[in-house]
Amino acid sequence: MKKTVLVSGGAGFIGSHVSVELAQAGYDVLIADNMSNCDETNYNGVCKILGYAPEFVKMDFCDSEAVDRLFAGHKIDAVIHFAAYKAVGESVAQPLMYYRNNLLSFMNVIEAARKNGGCNVLFSSSATVYGEAEDLPVTEKTGRKPSTSPYGNTKQISEDILRDCVKAYPEIKGIALRYFNPIGAHPSALIGELPRGVPNNLVPFITQTAIGKRECLSIFGKDYPTEDGTCLRDYIDVVDLAKAHVCAVTRMIEGKMKADYEIYNIGTGRPVSVLELVNSFEKVNSLKLNYKFVDRRPGDVVSIYGSPALANEELGWKAERSVEETLAAAWAWEKALAGKN
Ligand code: UFG
Repeated sequence: MKKTVLVSGGAGFIGSHVSVELAQAGYDVLIADNMSNCDETNYNGVCKILGYAPEFVKMDFCDSEAVDRLFAGHKIDAVIHFAAYKAVGESVAQPLMYYRNNLLSFMNVIEAARKNGGCNVLFSSSATVYGEAEDLPVTEKTGRKPSTSPYGNTKQISEDILRDCVKAYPEIKGIALRYFNPIGAHPSALIGELPRGVPNNLVPFITQTAIGKRECLSIFGKDYPTEDGTCLRDYIDVVDLAKAHVCAVTRMIEGKMKADYEIYNIGTGRPVSVLELVNSFEKVNSLKLNYKFVDRRPGDVVSIYGSPALANEELGWKAERSVEETLAAAWAWEKALAGKN
């Protein structure tokens, strides 16, 4: 019997890649999304890659009755919860919107899972919980820092909700994956990142500049205490990241967890500066990017990269794609999008 995995927010950037990898690993995928931050492009891409249409439910995870109906109507073996807002700046301007959406939806998922016989819950967390860490690379034992944005705070609180729930409710098991900086796109160029409006993140800004949608990339800060003066990040390929979810879900479903709640860093362990990333993008795609240095962006940490050793060992997962391959995929996706417009 195939096991079923519910992917909340499954039409989004990471959710769509995870849906593909899960289906290709033999899971039945149930995709649910309220489409508040995406259109149908990625879901259609998932269907094309797989050659069939996984079940899709349009719904809002803040609607507790709808979530309950979903769980009551399907035998769900694991749920991966992506459905959340993710823009740091917007969360500072609209904290209530973030707390309500991100926390309520997650509590509704856990509550419905409990009511319907229990479930394995995988939460999509972020390296943002580490803040500006003193010792790098960070490991899962590195302490969390008080969050500097409501967005980051919702990640911390959601981790705590899951930790407390697995303690109280034996029918719930949980894993939190802390992602570093997910970038790239599926090698088919059928799914990828679709930012609305002006991108906040580096790679979509780079690809949109290269295609001519943006005039010039602003590199935020050139006087950081790093070798080339720009910030260091741990960029993780989105397909590699998706595969980590398959490993984590399988670990839960097969009952191989060593504790009822586990946390894993999902990154490469390899720090890359903003300038290095820009240079690699230019090189691998044989083009010149229009960029300039501007002031630092408020709230940016200088350096953050993580040790993936625990995930390597316990999940049997390892990041495989090089930054160059990932940047080539991101560019192929941007070009594919331009072809559609
Ligand atoms: N950057 C630029 N120019 C841009 C955009 C970004 O120079 O136009 C720089 C940033 O200053 C930073 C690096 O590129 O040094 C990466 O920035 P991103 O916005 O792509 O990613 P962040 O590291 O800021 O944020 C990511 C996730 C957040 C998460 C955060 C915490 O997008 O959701 O990591 O780890 F909260």
